[in-house]
Amino acid sequence: MTVARQILHVDLDAFFVAVEQARDPSLKGKAVVVGGDPDGRGVVATASYEARVFGVHSAMPLRTAKRLAPHAIFLRGDFKEYQRYSRAFHAILGEYSPLVESGGLDEAFIDVTGCEPLVGTPEQAAATIRARIRDELQIAASVGMATSRLVAKVASDAAKPDGVKRVPEGEEAAFLAPMPLRALPMLGPSMEKKLAQLGLSTLGQLASLPVATLEGLFGRHGGAIWQRSRGIDASHVGGEPRGHSISREGTFGSDVHDPEHLRAVLRAFSESVGSQLRQQGKRARTVSLKLRYEDFTTLSRSKTVQRPLSSNEAIFEAADALLTRIRQVEKRPVRLIGVGASGLVEDVVQLSLEPSHETKSESLSATFDKVRSKYGTRSLQTGRTAFDGATQNDDSVFDRSTGLSSQMEH
Ligand code: TTP
Ligand code: MG
Repeated sequence: MTVARQILHVDLDAFFVAVEQARDPSLKGKAVVVGGDPDGRGVVATASYEARVFGVHSAMPLRTAKRLAPHAIFLRGDFKEYQRYSRAFHAILGEYSPLVESGGLDEAFIDVTGCEPLVGTPEQAAATIRARIRDELQIAASVGMATSRLVAKVASDAAKPDGVKRVPEGEEAAFLAPMPLRALPMLGPSMEKKLAQLGLSTLGQLASLPVATLEGLFGRHGGAIWQRSRGIDASHVGGEPRGHSISREGTFGSDVHDPEHLRAVLRAFSESVGSQLRQQGKRARTVSLKLRYEDFTTLSRSKTVQRPLSSNEAIFEAADALLTRIRQVEKRPVRLIGVGASGLVEDVVQLSLEPSHETKSESLSATFDKVRSKYGTRSLQTGRTAFDGATQNDDSVFDRSTGLSSQMEH
């Protein structure tokens, strides 16, 4: 059974203006335009909703804005300050899920699937996030909630200003149907023009066309647009899980039967994999375990978790559960054991929140020391694999502390 994803799209309202208003509350409730000298040749970066009433919008020449809203307050803007607010905004979001994807200075997607025990329902998470942004930054944020990035993004636009819009599972197509074509992200003006020539103006009309018609018009892109017009979007927050993996495996000096010995090594490898994951700023969706026996038969089992993980403990727990499962059916002594992490996604929760790599390497060394003192220095040879072809950092602490020869495999 697949669980519907819960994705939030958070977008700050009239961001540049909102920062100016947070810094100078006397600007609140007024027509404010950020974009430089109104008598110069610049364009509007953003306008407060009070100024938008007069037709002022982003990218409009400032002179036109001045003509439409002569009473508006025109400000040059302070990009450094906007960046500072943007960082604070993203830092808040990072506290609610490990899966946050920035969409720019003032917007981001958050996948809160499976986060309910921590952050409550998506509605509660959205309310908390909005309240925190309001309290800490004095800025209004609008939030869209849906089962995909695409629909969440359109929903946050529909929620503006200062609102929340949830599109329940199954209602995606109906939500999009009455909307104008341009409401769909990635449907650009030239495509809109072509479709208008066919008499189409809404996403519902687009969705009811045979997909072949769109493919004929726009090639492969046409099929994607057709799917999107129905609210279908399988893309992942934080980018697609790539085929990359990080793993560590080792061959025993003599085959090992003792489950505690196997677990001790598993723990050490989990720490190494975890350490490398965090070093690369990644989390993994899948943990795998590999066992090889004296006759070189090799068993691999993997476990995919709902929340991408990167902690040593979480990797170890998953690997250990796989070990237990395999050992129920295959109890022969083990020649080689390995732990892998794959389905890697960017970890946007700052690495600084985690203990430093140094600390992790030290704890890894300590685990290896334990293995070594208990089972002998030459009890294990280690190898490290990274299928993504990324340059390996020499994990010298690892090697020094264990006194084991290490090898790299591809
Ligand atoms: P948006 O989120 O598109 O716009 P906004 O936050 O001003 O208003 P809202 O989301 O409530 O509709 O863009 C975020 C900021 O990016 C915006 O405050 C200013 C800047 N920006 C430009 O500088 N030029 C532009 O053309 C646009 C669209 C935005
Ligand atoms: Mg915005």
